[in-house]
Amino acid sequence: MYSQKVMEHFMCPQNAYSMPDADAEGSFGDPSCGDMLTVYLKIKNNVIQEISYLVFGCCASIATSSMTSVLAKGKSLNEALGITEEEIIEALDGLPENKRHCSNLGVRALRNAINHYLNTKQTEGFHENSNT
Ligand code: FES
Ligand code: FES
Repeated sequence: MYSQKVMEHFMCPQNAYSMPDADAEGSFGDPSCGDMLTVYLKIKNNVIQEISYLVFGCCASIATSSMTSVLAKGKSLNEALGITEEEIIEALDGLPENKRHCSNLGVRALRNAINHYLNTKQTEGFHENSNT
């Protein structure tokens, strides 16, 4: 039922660790199944240097979180914001129809983390400007 790639990422998830000194983090949970993902980012010059995550969920949510991290690492924030569920599913050589929604977790949590980072930076910029 699952592709070889999905099984590999489920058995050996890439970048699965928490990051206490992350520059940004973002979470997303799927209320329909209770699965939950938090993504952590280290960012330099608007490029994702490091990405990790903690995930509580099904086999497909673990595999898709892992693949999200592989696809996002080394990308600019703009490129990473553009990563889609389809790309993640394709990179995993497909997901069963009833598991395709699991790829949503990775995409949403990653976008939330990036948007938090951009919003915080904007607010900091605002404070800096208002201090001068
Ligand atoms: Fe969502 Fe398994 S935890 S279906
Ligand atoms: Fe919903 Fe896996 S069943 S994320």
